[in-house]
Amino acid sequence: MGMHPVQVIAVTGGKGGVGKTNVSVNLALALADLGRRVVLLDADLGLANVDVLLGLTSKRTLADVIAGECDLRDVLIQGPGGIRIVPAASGTQSMVQLSTLQHAGLIQAFSELGDELDVLIIDTAAGIGDAVVSFVRAAQEVLLVVTDEPTSITDAYALIKLLNRDYGISRFRVLANMAHAPQEGRNLFAKLTKVTERFLDVALQYVGAIPYDESVRKAVQKQRAVYDAILGRSPRWRSRPLRRRSIPGHCLPPRVGTWSSSSSD
Ligand SMILES: Nc1ncnc2c1ncn2[C@@H]1O[C@H](COP(=O)(O)OP(=O)(O)OP(=O)(O)O)[C@@H](O)[C@H]1O
Ligand SMILES: [Mg+2]
Repeated sequence: MGMHPVQVIAVTGGKGGVGKTNVSVNLALALADLGRRVVLLDADLGLANVDVLLGLTSKRTLADVIAGECDLRDVLIQGPGGIRIVPAASGTQSMVQLSTLQHAGLIQAFSELGDELDVLIIDTAAGIGDAVVSFVRAAQEVLLVVTDEPTSITDAYALIKLLNRDYGISRFRVLANMAHAPQEGRNLFAKLTKVTERFLDVALQYVGAIPYDESVRKAVQKQRAVYDAILGRSPRWRSRPLRRRSIPGHCLPPRVGTWSSSSSD
């Protein structure tokens, strides 16, 4: 004991392409800006993303740790803004079929880094497969990235249902991504809670909405995080402090692309 706790946040959502990786990377950078020591785990075991998004390359990956060929420390690569990244193994089929036990062992491996680390952000794969579930189970915070499309809401619901019924997870945070207006995020959250309240005993918390913004796509093309690339320059991504209300133990990024509450739509 005596080691300080690591805050583990799983970024997930069910559907593919809703922005999980972008949210993970930018959340990592924002928390690092607040002085947190952040490690970003690319848990998309089928198809590595984070290193590609940030234009990083690595020789060793999570696969080597699991195979017992190296230590987690040997795998960490330095990312932008002082964050450190554990790259996934790209296209290694065997990684997709990791047993639950192996996943648990993997998360356990992070305790090795306990005194060098404040926040561990896990960028999960799409879907509700075993790998996603075991990473989410290892986290204290589940951040669901959802977009206002029927498929995203349905997939998020399926994931919540599975995690709740089979694993007793009952607290979820919901972040609306690619919203075209602030109200779109609220509406999406209302649609989701309408079904969860009816069928499940879970507590959903609305975190906010990230605007749909072409700059995100452009930043990705340049292999830069939007947090680095455009923040403060685009009026839509206005820089303003967020109230530090919602996550005990850590707080939301001080500046994220949200609409200012004072601005009218
Ligand atoms: N707020 C946004 N505005 C515009 N484009 C966005 C936004 N967020 C994400 N995107 C774009 O959507 C695409 C998917 O994003 P991302 O890779 O983060 O999704 P994902 O959920 O991690 O996908 P996967 O399920 O494949 O891992 C990318 O091209 C990204 O640039
Ligand atoms: Mg991704």
